[in-house]
Amino acid sequence: MRYSSRIIFLCIFAAFILGVILMLYIIISTSSISYKSRIKNFDVISAFRRKSKPNTKVSLLTIRKCLDLLPQPNFTSLIIDTEILQNIIENKCRKVSRAIKIALHDKMYQELKRSDQLGRKFSIANFSYPEDTDYMRFHDDETGRFARIIPRIKIRSCGEYQVPADILLFLEYWKRSRYIDCLNLTVERKPMEQVLDPVISVMHLAELRNMFVSFNMYPLLNGGTLLGWYRECSVIPHTTDLDFSVKYDEFDISIIEEFWKPSTKFLMNRRLGMPNDSFEITVSPVDNPGYPIDVFVMYDETNHSYVSGTNHIGMKFRYKYPLYDRYCSADLKGKLFWITCDPEGVVKVNEY
Ligand SMILES: *[C@@H]1O[C@H](CO)[C@@H](O)[C@H](O)[C@H]1NC(C)=O
Ligand SMILES: *[C@@H]1O[C@H](CO)[C@@H](O)[C@H](O)[C@H]1NC(C)=O
Ligand SMILES: *[C@@H]1O[C@H](CO)[C@@H](O)[C@H](O)[C@H]1NC(C)=O
Ligand SMILES: *[C@@H]1O[C@H](CO)[C@@H](O)[C@H](O)[C@H]1NC(C)=O
Ligand SMILES: *[C@@H]1O[C@H](CO)[C@@H](O)[C@H](O)[C@H]1NC(C)=O
Repeated sequence: MRYSSRIIFLCIFAAFILGVILMLYIIISTSSISYKSRIKNFDVISAFRRKSKPNTKVSLLTIRKCLDLLPQPNFTSLIIDTEILQNIIENKCRKVSRAIKIALHDKMYQELKRSDQLGRKFSIANFSYPEDTDYMRFHDDETGRFARIIPRIKIRSCGEYQVPADILLFLEYWKRSRYIDCLNLTVERKPMEQVLDPVISVMHLAELRNMFVSFNMYPLLNGGTLLGWYRECSVIPHTTDLDFSVKYDEFDISIIEEFWKPSTKFLMNRRLGMPNDSFEITVSPVDNPGYPIDVFVMYDETNHSYVSGTNHIGMKFRYKYPLYDRYCSADLKGKLFWITCDPEGVVKVNEY
């Protein structure tokens, strides 16, 4: 009697455990179904090419092998020679007979220049980390007409040579590095309250910029934000939101999943348009929802690029840009942003 009741108890216990396992399984699988259906919702945008991030890790050995073929400098020199950096990535190192482009920190540059030690083996630029900014600034005597700025990068040392830690990223930055100044006009307008604080605005914009860069996207200032930078070197007082655009061929939709993560710094408030036309999302900082940022996809046509979207009263609009084939860099309140190299053209075409 005792023995069989023990068996019955064991059976009930086993059934209970099985039941719990089954319930857990159901809970887990339905939640993953809802996650999947959320993704499915985005099937429509799977048309966006999902590029896997190219492997940009180059071994120190490969780098050393390439650098050994070059003349050796007597001073700490950052290689900014795009051809040589490209060769390092592709593991196609070879000797070059021309002067190699390097950059020296401004302090050292001035010192060596004063004592005439720069020599002729190198084409030498200087760089600095301007105070209260998030970028590096380069000058070289050859292209002295303009400066270049790029976001601050990590650097690897290899003897006296220094190489960007992420060479591919550096090359992307360099392509967009030509610096353009804003006009800093005094705009006549009735005194009005500044809705968005410019310094807080650029802080959030730079944060979002970094997030996009980690997905290989290089957002551009767009619309009113571009105009505010160009004319006033600031954020237009009556603006209530900020604008970025990303080129269609760069756009990677998987960034949207980032906005669903518990750790996200931005929430996605809306998504509009089709991937091939008028695509637009609005995100806002989790800790500062009063600073919404619109991100438009920019499309190319034969002779111009455009973004289109919906404004706050539901009206469709389209902004035209000169064909965006070149990118430049700008400073907005100490942060680096990418812009069209022809801001004047944009402002004219759209007659803000
Ligand atoms: C480095 O210093 C050595 C000896 O002073 C000199 O022969 C050589 O040309 C220098 N190299 C460069 C790149 O200036
Ligand atoms: C670099 O050199 C140029 C020309 O000598 C100079 O005007 C500039 O201040 C230097 N520093 C930086 C960071 O550009
Ligand atoms: C714009 O001009 C004002 C004064 O006219 C000056 O204080 C300010 O620093 C300038 N801003 C930039 C970004 O050049
Ligand atoms: C965009 O894609 C949709 C559906 O795939 C298609 O109906 C529409 O014509 C396309 N629009 C453009 C501008 O290519
Ligand atoms: C683009 O520009 C070229 C040269 O200005 C012109 O011949 C051509 O018709 C334009 N194409 C379109 C689609 O507007």
